[in-house]
Amino acid sequence: MKQAVAKAAMEHVPSGCIIGVGTGSTANYFIDELGKIRGKIEGAVASSEATATRLKQHGIEVFELNAVDGLEVYVEGADEITANMHMIKGGGGALTREKIVAAASKKFVCVADETKLVDILGKFPLPVEVIPMARSYVSRELVKLGGLPRLRSGFVTDNGNLILDVHGLTIMNPVELEGIINQITGVVTNGLFAKRPADLLLLGTSSGVRSITAS
Ligand code: 5RP
Repeated sequence: MKQAVAKAAMEHVPSGCIIGVGTGSTANYFIDELGKIRGKIEGAVASSEATATRLKQHGIEVFELNAVDGLEVYVEGADEITANMHMIKGGGGALTREKIVAAASKKFVCVADETKLVDILGKFPLPVEVIPMARSYVSRELVKLGGLPRLRSGFVTDNGNLILDVHGLTIMNPVELEGIINQITGVVTNGLFAKRPADLLLLGTSSGVRSITAS
């Protein structure tokens, strides 16, 4: 299913552009598809070091985001997504760069298999990237919000920070919670992508790829 949505996403790649490319196993399938048509695009902005490495292995030029005016499209996976196109992301720990690339992109195409579509976000622990010295303070604040933060063991982000995975949340208002958590001092960003949701979901199912827009 992940491979099928990666192939379907190719229809949304404009010729001659620099595009945003996400992180994770579904994004990796997409990169492999891009590698087959690498002459069609000018290059890509990567949402993680791992993605940059894979793009380069396929001979695709990787640009710094600061070197481009903006991106036509960003193709990226998700850990959970609702029919409103709100997402939890950051299972791979790349949430901050993913959110920056999403913000700089005109169109966000989410590629996911059917297990990712949920009614309510929160069963997947919400990743929160934190400045290392703020880890304990931020954890206490997250407990006050009803979550159970756990430090992602042995993991350091591409930005040199830590990840707290917050369990036990039932997220009824993702836009509000995204803002509240981002206001905690020491939080770099959190894995709720609700203020800037996906524009299109390509969902891999056992009966083929479904194209879904916000309901
Ligand atoms: C990485 C992410 C990924 O998009 C998310 O974890 C989905 O990964 P996969 O495609 O492997 O299921 O947010 O930080």
